[in-house]
Amino acid sequence: MENQPLAALRRQLPSLRLLDAAGDLEHYGRDWTRRWTPAPLAIALPASIDEVQTIVRWANAERVALVPSGGRTGLSGGAVAANGELVVSLERMNRVLGFDAIDRTLTVEPGITLHAVHEAARTHGLIYPVDFAARGSCSIGGNIATNAGGIRVIRYGNTREWVAGLKLVAGNGELLDLNRGLIKNSSGYDLRQLAIGAEGTLGIVVEATLKLTDPPLPSQVMLLGLPNMDALMCVFGLFRSRLALQAFEFFTDIALAHVLAHGAQRALDGDHPYYVVTEYDAADERAENAALMAFEEAAEQGWIADGVIAQSDAQAAALWRLREGITESLAKFQPYKNDVSMRIAVVPAFLHEMQALLEREYPGIEVVWFGHIGDGNLHINVLKPAAASSADFVRQCEGVTHELAEMLQRHGGSISAEHGIGLVKKPYLDRTRSAAEIALMRGVRRVFDPNGIMNPGKLFDDPA
Ligand code: MLT
Ligand code: ZN
Repeated sequence: MENQPLAALRRQLPSLRLLDAAGDLEHYGRDWTRRWTPAPLAIALPASIDEVQTIVRWANAERVALVPSGGRTGLSGGAVAANGELVVSLERMNRVLGFDAIDRTLTVEPGITLHAVHEAARTHGLIYPVDFAARGSCSIGGNIATNAGGIRVIRYGNTREWVAGLKLVAGNGELLDLNRGLIKNSSGYDLRQLAIGAEGTLGIVVEATLKLTDPPLPSQVMLLGLPNMDALMCVFGLFRSRLALQAFEFFTDIALAHVLAHGAQRALDGDHPYYVVTEYDAADERAENAALMAFEEAAEQGWIADGVIAQSDAQAAALWRLREGITESLAKFQPYKNDVSMRIAVVPAFLHEMQALLEREYPGIEVVWFGHIGDGNLHINVLKPAAASSADFVRQCEGVTHELAEMLQRHGGSISAEHGIGLVKKPYLDRTRSAAEIALMRGVRRVFDPNGIMNPGKLFDDPA
């Protein structure tokens, strides 16, 4: 016999697409973390804002928890449904609703992929500049929920800088039309910005108006091999002072070995402990020469051991693959992921402390570093040894993460730079957000969602 609340939802919305086959529960109940066993009540696939609003009102009446769901490429468990929640997948709401040439905005439904947003912007001669490797599968609603960053933050900032307007069905069932594309709006609290990065705990994003901008100048992509860790920030400092950077990303020799084993092409002959992929404006000979001079100066200082500049778009893509292919190449090792950030100036001291911690705590375990070092954002991926059980491995990593969180606290950093808190980092939130901040966040949550139906258990636990 069908679950009674679900039967009531069917009566209220006879045309709503609802799935409850075992395969669907499994597919829609998990994200890329693969740590929790999916166990949602069912999956709703609304096709309109009205349907979303009816679902949220029903959930309040029936006290059913909702998990908003986009491309489920998240790495922190924010879209996991493991406790009988109704998953609200926005995948059918994936259209471009409009483009405004004067405002230079694109209005989209939340289920559209980041890649489709890029394509839509391009047809108007503009770009939407937030970009990262999951672009083909992640959705803009999920990007907004986590304030996604990626590989161009150094030039363009995070998702929150590119959202000009947001329609949100709040947890209390109200439809909010936030900021409406305004550039200037000094009229009290910016609720749009509260909803961005809220990980679905305040409501469901049902429409977004995104800012677009001019395409960047023609660029060059350079791969550098570095002789040691200290050289990373020395090269960054020099390149940033001389070049107009679009990206500055790093990875280690261990990351490179995995990505090569996964099919990428080697681009430098020798082996180096650290690598940088950087992209910078290179519209004319002057800019290209400036890059060569920066390279030579860094090499003379002993900060760069080898390097190559892509000579074609295909070569640039091949260099980028060395960085962007890392996550996929590690997936089979069920990596435990840390995603930490600190002020750029603090990175050198932090790196040394972090290296000592990881060497001490993970003897004989492969630890892969990479990330957006030009933004002060490091991804630490600890690979599960084949012989270890998943539970023991996660327990060990959680113990180390407590120490890492304490280190971040001392350095004024954050336990999540861009992946979000979700379930994975919830135990460490109080290390890098103060008790007073968390109390206020809980209060905000209660105002938007008085019955606690929106993605409960994510970000923080509600008090009993
Ligand atoms: C990346 O920078 O590649 C993404 O944040 C994904 C990841 O950290 O695995
Ligand atoms: Zn990243």
